[in-house]
Amino acid sequence: MYAEHRRQFLKHLSTTGTAAVIPTNRSMVRNHDCDFRFRPSSDFWYLTGFAEPEACLVLLPDLEGDGPGRSILYLRELDKLMEIWNGRRLGLDAAPKALGVDEARNIESLWEDLPECLTGYEEVVFSTGFDADRDRKMGEVLAAVRRKARGGIRPLTSMVDHTPALHELRLFKAEAEIDMIRKACTITTEAHVAAMAATAPGMNECEIDALVEYTFKRRGSTGAAYNNIVAGGGNACILHYVENNAELRDGDLLLIDAGAEWNYYSSDVTRTFPVNGRFNDEQRAIYEIVLEAQMKAIEHSAPGVSFVSIHEVALLCLVEGLIGLGLLQGSAEEVIESRSYTDFYPHRTGHWMGLDVHDCGYYASEGSSRILEPGMIFTVEPGLYVDPANQDVEERWRGIGVRIEDDILITNDGHEVLTAAIPKSVEAVEAACGAPVPEPVA
Ligand code: GLY
Ligand code: MN
Ligand code: MN
Repeated sequence: MYAEHRRQFLKHLSTTGTAAVIPTNRSMVRNHDCDFRFRPSSDFWYLTGFAEPEACLVLLPDLEGDGPGRSILYLRELDKLMEIWNGRRLGLDAAPKALGVDEARNIESLWEDLPECLTGYEEVVFSTGFDADRDRKMGEVLAAVRRKARGGIRPLTSMVDHTPALHELRLFKAEAEIDMIRKACTITTEAHVAAMAATAPGMNECEIDALVEYTFKRRGSTGAAYNNIVAGGGNACILHYVENNAELRDGDLLLIDAGAEWNYYSSDVTRTFPVNGRFNDEQRAIYEIVLEAQMKAIEHSAPGVSFVSIHEVALLCLVEGLIGLGLLQGSAEEVIESRSYTDFYPHRTGHWMGLDVHDCGYYASEGSSRILEPGMIFTVEPGLYVDPANQDVEERWRGIGVRIEDDILITNDGHEVLTAAIPKSVEAVEAACGAPVPEPVA
């Protein structure tokens, strides 16, 4: 799969004779001498499937003819002592066979080698702005290649951002990638079902957070695709609430936004359910509006439909529901025009999903929304949030926060909900709450 991604990107690079230098992430210090758990950069992973730090991929399209070009992976040498302390390394000898790259070289020689590698190319793909040290070194490489131009060699004149082309490739998921996202979604399903089953009044958000995390990890996922949001009661009105340390109270809702990552491919799911297993009238009223908005938006998702129209379908449904409950005044058109709904619905309805939870790819170009095509994956995640401090509404509505989020694949003739197995209707959610905690799936 990664070799195929490289082949496609090299093919694109060969149309302009552009070389590419794509480093992975750096290890990041967490505190003192401890690092955060390492995660490769998504672009680098997409092109290599290689998860060690201190690595860089160099892609060199064929300048002479229409050959496939060359891939050189720079990585760390084997080092017995470092491996005893910090973990195994693939090493230079094993890398070409294991990863399918044409050549493997020591990362220590990257900056020294690059002027030679890039000689003859006029343009090199390199994303600046992420790491000042790398940017400076790349500037020196360019200067070194330009100096050679006096010898009659074509000068390397520009550094270009690779994101538009590479990110277009990443936007369309191949079957193997869809399988990985399916796997992430299966684990996520298990986690949400387990959370519904285990939650009870008097527990703490952190216990459910731990159960979700445990479910992700015991199934061998690469971890959570983003920080889990486990938000009881009014905490659900904080969109990216991650403290996850409050008591879960009888009569409140619990919003869980959590998705497993499989092989660095994401899932992204939100469910909202009653801590005591039964929605009260106000909670059910809000929940049913969000559910209807979500189902209508999903139903609308198909090839040929614009991405923005999914949001518009959901928004209209939410606004009509809020007006119906007396929480907003005026006609739906007036409310949408004045954006008075943003007190209750401050975000949009979805985003691309893939290696990054908020994945790459254009949403619009030249003012027009993107048209959906098979192979795209995105979330549909409407919500309604009544701030606990909102004095403009009756007290009974305050502190209710509901979001429902699923992951959608556009297929040739419509869509597939990759997370359809997670309880969602009022009846299914109430039945899942307090049910026996499921045994881990083998
Ligand atoms: N979990 C982040 C999001 O739903 O976009
Ligand atoms: Mn989410
Ligand atoms: Mn999302």
